[in-house]
Amino acid sequence: MFSIESTSMSPAVVSFRQVSKSYGFGSAAVTALDSIDIDVQQGEFTAIMGPSGSGKSTFMHVAAGLDDATSGGVFLAGAPLHTLDDTARTILRRRNVGFVFQSFNLVPTLSVVENIALPFQLAGHSITVEEQRWIDHLVHVLGLAARITHRPAELSGGQQQRVAIARALAPRPAIVFADEPTGNLDTRSSSEVLQLMRSAATEYGQTIAMVSHDPIAASYADRVVVLADGRLVADHGRLTAQQISQLLLTAEGAEGASA
Ligand SMILES: Nc1ncnc2c1ncn2[C@@H]1O[C@H](COP(=O)(O)OP(=O)(O)O)[C@@H](O)[C@H]1O
Ligand SMILES: [Mg+2]
Repeated sequence: MFSIESTSMSPAVVSFRQVSKSYGFGSAAVTALDSIDIDVQQGEFTAIMGPSGSGKSTFMHVAAGLDDATSGGVFLAGAPLHTLDDTARTILRRRNVGFVFQSFNLVPTLSVVENIALPFQLAGHSITVEEQRWIDHLVHVLGLAARITHRPAELSGGQQQRVAIARALAPRPAIVFADEPTGNLDTRSSSEVLQLMRSAATEYGQTIAMVSHDPIAASYADRVVVLADGRLVADHGRLTAQQISQLLLTAEGAEGASA
């Protein structure tokens, strides 16, 4: 049904071929992903939407190799994740994936600059001159230059999320996954963070997959996909917040009909 050959031709950063994921067994089994096929292209900023429990976080975890699919083929940066063991997946993830979470997930005892350097440290990789220039550029663009020695607790939520974005972008990963990155931010900080992700995709060709239930957040993306009951029920190009709200109403209707 799928083969490594069939995807190695395309520049997709993430490919799912008939991917299903269940939790639990027998009568307690929950199907979190149901026969998903998708390709996320290089440089694309994708918003993944859907009601609570529709499979958004599971999608992200499986795509990033944090969790196994039950069946199907998952390809990350051309590598068949479904054939790799945990160690190989961890190495692949460190090289290719950046994460941004709703709760920022910064290390409280480290300074801003130490948090940004963390992915390099975890990979046992000393920062080259060229990489340091890129980090300095990010720190400047993200408006963190005056804060590099601060600890996360000394920063506002919006500033902390900008540090998390700098940390995710610093190793130039093949893809950044962001799970509700603006969920804990006020309107103004949210739009700053979304604008930063938008320009990372436009200016640096950074591939981004963002989980969000907010139509305004998703209106910054190049592509809007909707999950309902673990199925991919909509896949569109750039939409306005109003169009996205309408799309979500339709998707929730579809979910009700299949329940
Ligand atoms: N670790 C888990 N164990 C059992 N069920 C889970 C687990 N994680 C998620 N689920 C179930 O899988 C479905 C999809 O969950 P999730 O991917 O977290 O959805 P979303 O992020 O869209 O809210 C839900 O029915 C949820 O209850
Ligand atoms: Mg979730």
